[in-house]
Amino acid sequence: MTWVVYGLLKILVTGRTTLLAPSLVSCYYDVGGVELSITSPAFSQLLAVELSVYAPKIVHDDSFPIIDVGGSVSGIAAAGISFGIPGIVNFNEAKYNLSTGSGLLPVIQSFAGSTARPGTNGTRLQFSGGATLRNFTVYQQGITADVNCQAATSSQLLNFTNSNTTLGVTPSGSTSPAYTLIAWNTTADCNSSSTTTQQYVTWANASGQPDVSGTGFLPTIVCPGHVDASDVYSRFVIATQGFYKYDFLPLTICEVTPLVTITRVDYTAGGIINASQIISNQTFSPDDTYLLFYLAGVVNYHARNSQGLMNNMIGDTLYSVYSGEDNDPIADNTAEVFRELEDYWRGVIEFTATFLRAGYSAEGAFQDGIPSNMTSPLNGTMLMVTIGWANRGPIYIFSILPLGIVTLLTTIAAIYSLVESWKE
Ligand SMILES: *[C@@H]1O[C@H](CO)[C@@H](O)[C@H](O)[C@H]1NC(C)=O
Ligand SMILES: *[C@@H]1O[C@H](CO)[C@@H](O)[C@H](O)[C@H]1NC(C)=O
Ligand SMILES: *[C@@H]1O[C@H](CO)[C@@H](O)[C@H](O)[C@H]1NC(C)=O
Ligand SMILES: *[C@@H]1O[C@H](CO)[C@@H](O)[C@H](O)[C@H]1NC(C)=O
Ligand SMILES: *[C@@H]1O[C@H](CO)[C@@H](O)[C@H](O)[C@H]1NC(C)=O
Ligand SMILES: *[C@@H]1O[C@H](CO)[C@@H](O)[C@H](O)[C@H]1NC(C)=O
Ligand SMILES: *[C@@H]1O[C@H](CO)[C@@H](O)[C@H](O)[C@H]1NC(C)=O
Ligand SMILES: *[C@@H]1O[C@H](CO)[C@@H](O)[C@H](O)[C@H]1NC(C)=O
Ligand SMILES: *[C@@H]1O[C@H](CO)[C@@H](O)[C@H](O)[C@H]1NC(C)=O
Ligand SMILES: *[C@@H]1O[C@H](CO)[C@@H](O)[C@H](O)[C@H]1NC(C)=O
Ligand SMILES: *[C@@H]1O[C@H](CO)[C@@H](O)[C@H](O)[C@H]1NC(C)=O
Ligand SMILES: *[C@@H]1O[C@H](CO)[C@@H](O)[C@H](O)[C@H]1NC(C)=O
Repeated sequence: MTWVVYGLLKILVTGRTTLLAPSLVSCYYDVGGVELSITSPAFSQLLAVELSVYAPKIVHDDSFPIIDVGGSVSGIAAAGISFGIPGIVNFNEAKYNLSTGSGLLPVIQSFAGSTARPGTNGTRLQFSGGATLRNFTVYQQGITADVNCQAATSSQLLNFTNSNTTLGVTPSGSTSPAYTLIAWNTTADCNSSSTTTQQYVTWANASGQPDVSGTGFLPTIVCPGHVDASDVYSRFVIATQGFYKYDFLPLTICEVTPLVTITRVDYTAGGIINASQIISNQTFSPDDTYLLFYLAGVVNYHARNSQGLMNNMIGDTLYSVYSGEDNDPIADNTAEVFRELEDYWRGVIEFTATFLRAGYSAEGAFQDGIPSNMTSPLNGTMLMVTIGWANRGPIYIFSILPLGIVTLLTTIAAIYSLVESWKE
């Protein structure tokens, strides 16, 4: 019985070496498809309608607990890189090298950690085949931001104020307060006709004194469209100032200009998505007003919810950069802190865009798939290393055929030997 199998294997190997000359070959294929364009007018309209359902205001941050972007944003900012945390972000099981790579969503199924089928009319891409190694380069739409933080100049002061009232908290059964809560009204004149107010609460001891070495307060106000009253769609401003432990941060203005990009995305072996190369970028157009408000709203939501009674998540991030430099003084710690803050908010913008794109690209987000006026084309190449003829056929199926034949022959050999063994 054994000789039969051996014989077949022998034939098989011979056949492969003589007829098919198997060798590792690289083949390039063009890939194409469409993805959700979050900067299309149709999507912008949809966003306006969806957001106004929850909060009929310009900054729609009240709606974010519902779509739960705030929770996901926590700690995913690009700032993480500075702390020796590996530059890999996991979102939806996709592995991004550094942030979510310009606010994009993986389009290659095996990199997306998703088992969802490709959408109607080819949204998302699907591949199959016997390749031993594949990687892709795809040009996709991304969102990033140009963030510029600096100490406020006199023209940018926005009349930023922080007023407070102290409330003693007396436990039941006690006659004197155990601690006090300080209620803050933080205001800024986002434009000459409107004042924005944000309220915070911080902790202080029974005599109303905060522990300045352990407590941090970092109030923040987000002003959409402040920079230029006629340009309400292309940029917004974040005003912030550190108190107590964070008093190294002066009144700071961060100007955020979101950018729509075409980004080269490499999907390489190991499942890492490298989206570091921005091919081109442009600022938002009036069509993107609602996207801008959405981004400003997430920033506002995140800034507000980062402040706890004793400390602020963003403030602590900055504090470690600032105090980390103390042992080895550098020219200007504050400049370092500004760069950190810029990275932080850019990471939040990019992740927020990825989150939004992921939500509306998911199966079921639209009843009949993504409407065609909300899509943008994507293109790229697939590099596949496979076993095939050294003579590279132009058609994909030819390069996987040898593998198919080998598998088929092996199966036949196995069945044949089984049949033979029953006969004996
Ligand atoms: C997008 O297409 C839908 C129908 O598919 C249509 O109702 C809508 O008006 C279109 N939006 C724009 C901005 O063209
Ligand atoms: C991620 O990118 C950084 C900078 O380009 C690089 O140093 C690092 O090795 C990359 N990590 C992985 C896992 O590819
Ligand atoms: C794609 O894979 C090939 C072979 O594995 C490798 O030589 C090439 O550098 C990879 N391309 C990218 C962009 O990583
Ligand atoms: C904060 O604003 C609210 C409402 O505008 C007001 O009732 C309250 O007195 C203010 N508190 C302080 C400390 O200014
Ligand atoms: C409350 O505000 C006043 C005036 O701005 C300030 O002097 C005081 O330190 C603040 N209180 C606390 C506990 O920070
Ligand atoms: C700040 O307040 C002053 C006086 O109340 C006012 O004249 C000025 O316009 C305000 N600044 C802004 C940017 O609104
Ligand atoms: C509150 O803190 C201040 C300064 O840290 C201290 O002088 C004061 O004794 C504390 N008061 C109480 C009741 O703990
Ligand atoms: C000022 O801001 C408010 C709210 O942010 C907005 O309703 C108003 O139209 C703005 N005014 C100008 C002149 O931009
Ligand atoms: C990411 O891709 C860029 C070019 O697109 C390349 O220069 C860079 O080395 C790549 N980084 C990693 C970690 O592969
Ligand atoms: C956007 O494009 C401009 C030139 O068009 C370039 O100077 C800038 O660095 C680009 N920004 C990013 C984030 O790629
Ligand atoms: C898919 O494409 C066909 C033909 O191009 C078109 O009739 C149909 O409306 C498209 N469906 C969607 C969901 O875009
Ligand atoms: C893919 O798109 C990019 C940018 O839009 C373009 O430069 C490139 O030529 C396109 N490649 C193919 C194969 O269509």
